[in-house]
Amino acid sequence: MKGESMVERERFRPERCVMVIFGASGDLTQRKLAPALYNLAREGLLPDRTVLLGYGRTEMTDAAFRRRLRESVSRFSRTQPIVEGAWEALAGRIFYQQGAYDEAEGYRRLQRRLRQLDRKFDTGGNRVFYLAIPPSVVVPILDNLSAAHSLDRRPRCDEEGACYLRAVFEKPFGHDLDSARRLDNEIERLLAESQVFRMDHYLGKETVQNISVLRFANSIFENVWSAQCVRYIRVTVAEMLGMEGRGSYFDPVGILRDILQNHVLQLLTLVTMEPPASLAPDAIRDEKVKVLRCLRRLEGDEVRRSAVRGQYGRGMLDGREVPAYREEEGVAHDSNTETFVGLRTYIDNWRWAGVPIYLCAGKRLAATLTEVAVEFKEVPGILFGAMEGVELKPNRLKLRIQPDEGVSLRFASKVPGLGLELKNVEMDFPYGSAFPAASPEAYERLLLDVIAGNSALFARRDEVELAWEFATSILEAWEQQPAPDFPNYAPGTWGPIPPERFFSPEAVYSDVLSPRADL
Ligand SMILES: NC(=O)c1ccc[n+]([C@@H]2O[C@H](COP(=O)([O-])OP(=O)(O)OC[C@H]3O[C@@H](n4cnc5c(N)ncnc54)[C@H](OP(=O)(O)O)[C@@H]3O)[C@@H](O)[C@H]2O)c1
Repeated sequence: MKGESMVERERFRPERCVMVIFGASGDLTQRKLAPALYNLAREGLLPDRTVLLGYGRTEMTDAAFRRRLRESVSRFSRTQPIVEGAWEALAGRIFYQQGAYDEAEGYRRLQRRLRQLDRKFDTGGNRVFYLAIPPSVVVPILDNLSAAHSLDRRPRCDEEGACYLRAVFEKPFGHDLDSARRLDNEIERLLAESQVFRMDHYLGKETVQNISVLRFANSIFENVWSAQCVRYIRVTVAEMLGMEGRGSYFDPVGILRDILQNHVLQLLTLVTMEPPASLAPDAIRDEKVKVLRCLRRLEGDEVRRSAVRGQYGRGMLDGREVPAYREEEGVAHDSNTETFVGLRTYIDNWRWAGVPIYLCAGKRLAATLTEVAVEFKEVPGILFGAMEGVELKPNRLKLRIQPDEGVSLRFASKVPGLGLELKNVEMDFPYGSAFPAASPEAYERLLLDVIAGNSALFARRDEVELAWEFATSILEAWEQQPAPDFPNYAPGTWGPIPPERFFSPEAVYSDVLSPRADL
């Protein structure tokens, strides 16, 4: 007999639709969406009657749009070379509609085109509106779609049976708590929460989905997964890259908004949530929301004591000189924007009471890696723990999200020989060699889930707002007191906190942030 969880998953089947991508001339469409749709089609996972309609201000014919997407697929697809048959089949269902975002006429033409495509391809009236445009254009698009009767909480279909209408919203979802709430209110006016898919592409990564599998498909972790055995949890998203031409996007945003508020907190909730009742989207999201409710807010003076911000200066990285953040294209020369954040907080619930939670994100750091480290408590100072000259390190489980995906566990072992020498060793599960088949890209998983109506890997309204609540109190404290010493770390380091006090596995964590609390 199938468990409730299996039944839940099988409820979600990809269904034919017209997917309208607003901003289809842009970077996201070229880099991520087109390659993902092509790979889904190539693997036979995209329903045959799925149609793609690009929308934007740029003048383009259908043929020019197809050529552009083909070029994107050949540049960015994880599978090469292009399989001609798969591409041609998809290309025959790709169209483009030129129009402005703020003029009713464009939406009336869009509506007529959608009806034609429905008839021609028998798409059942199903719709996905993908908003791949800058945040400033989101509300005008929603308002105009609504005025053109293209948005509906209960979409009417041309044929018998149910049809669906879903909308996908990219990050950033808001700039702080107030703006996220305002955006949510606008959306709620027009759509039901079940129609809303807030994208956080981290959730589509294989290694992120594996966090739940590791925890709940194995029996050995649950009993040690609590304050009783865990010494600390650390989530790190580190990049060696600087702005790479995205300075004008990043400068008004900063790393706390860009990475910590969404990706880092999403990872944390998956690692610390209670086992959900089933795999149903709301069962999982309910548990994640409970963690965010219990996540201790840092406010006022506590921000000074428990959070560190940094901005990189000029320096050497990988043997070449790289500019300071303030010298990057698109960045103000006196910018006060943080490119590093490291903080300590707690989850005030029964499972995690008293366990320090370290969250860290930064650019131009010493390595590019995303990982979760769960360090367990030390053995008591008896037996091996009491031996002279033996340096036993605590057990530590590392979930390597990217790159070098895998899981490793550190434990102590006897060094072979007649003496009694101990050494810390690492047991490693490398994803790549254990499963030789290439992993799908996050956007493939997520696009498929959108057309299947499965929102488990998308953030719910309360989840996003609680995450913003956490981030906003820190941002407010920082705004009141601009950082006096930016830039304060050199490229290729681990930020303004000396590595032995924050990143290194050997770190003493109890006072990790306080010595630099006056930044
Ligand atoms: N690029 C990525 O890898 C990536 C990753 C994660 C999230 N995102 C998010 O996805 C969304 C789209 O990203 P993107 O990189 O594709 O953006 P983009 O290239 O800057 O813009 C997409 C399209 O939107 C239209 N547009 C741009 N600026 C506009 C403005 N001020 N007013 C009206 N229309 C404008 C343009 O199309 P027309 O001129 O033809 O109308 C443009 O081609 C953004 O919210 C971004 O934060 C992007």
